[in-house]
Amino acid sequence: MKKGYISVIPAAGLGTRFLPASKAVPKEMFPIVDVPTIELIAREAIASGSKKIIIVISSSKEAILCHHFTYDRSYEEYLIAKGHQDLADRLNQIAKEVEVTFVLQKEQKGLGDAIYACRNVIKDQPFGVLLGDDLMTYEGHKPVLKQLFDAFEKTHSSILGVQEVEASQVSKYGVIDIEEKETNRLFSLKGMVEKPKLEEAPSRYAALGRYVLTPAIFKALEKTPKGKGGEIQLTDALMLLNAVEPVYAYAFEGKRYDIGDKVGYVEAIIDFALKRDDTKEAIKKFLKDKDLR
Ligand code: UTP
Repeated sequence: MKKGYISVIPAAGLGTRFLPASKAVPKEMFPIVDVPTIELIAREAIASGSKKIIIVISSSKEAILCHHFTYDRSYEEYLIAKGHQDLADRLNQIAKEVEVTFVLQKEQKGLGDAIYACRNVIKDQPFGVLLGDDLMTYEGHKPVLKQLFDAFEKTHSSILGVQEVEASQVSKYGVIDIEEKETNRLFSLKGMVEKPKLEEAPSRYAALGRYVLTPAIFKALEKTPKGKGGEIQLTDALMLLNAVEPVYAYAFEGKRYDIGDKVGYVEAIIDFALKRDDTKEAIKKFLKDKDLR
């Protein structure tokens, strides 16, 4: 990859599963120990080779998300003057490393609509998508979005990041129907069902928050009617796209946490705290003392 891709982080959803916490604070800003979820996701985008990040926001989330990603020189100078160079370095890290742009989604009409809102910024190039509440870890592997970009370099077609989920979980996700396996991890897509009942699920492979899309997705989104939940579903647009150009799924390596879900959020905090040098011993001891069975 020579020039680097644009990546989109949709973060304009209502976050109803996490009320009342998500009423005033976007769930994408919930901290994983001391780093907001969306910053960790932006770091994955940068580590994957993104040259620019577009964050999709709603008017109620605008101030807080823009503030987090804006270079704050006076606060940085204050921290340095107080002898906190380490904190100063972390304060504006993303703002220094990559260009961040914000796009407003006027109404919360669904993920497909959030992507469509970016069409005039993205224009006619392929781009990455990282859902703002899907956090990934990938120790020992390439960053998850990079795995998809690498697959895209071979296929030049839209690719969904998928993983196998337990039977009890399939009804929470967009589940794919596989045409054929190109390799162990790359599948060409036959169809896809949004949040199917277990008996109607075409496989156990669920789309888990990472995509590389060709700009043809915008034409498909234009034609996509409201789907499940009365929202413009990216899944439905991908199926329209699949009728005019091939779409693939890639079974990525890594672990995904759903920050928009209470259990997923708590799991992420515990796992991250158990990996960090400054917290792991204390948290290990805390969990051991609980004597959980
Ligand atoms: P979710 O469906 O998980 O988010 O969307 P939600 O709608 O906020 O969640 P609940 O179901 O009400 O709790 C996945 C990602 O897409 C964004 C969300 O912010 C989230 O990061 N999204 C969703 C948008 O940007 N706009 C939308 O209209 C919907």
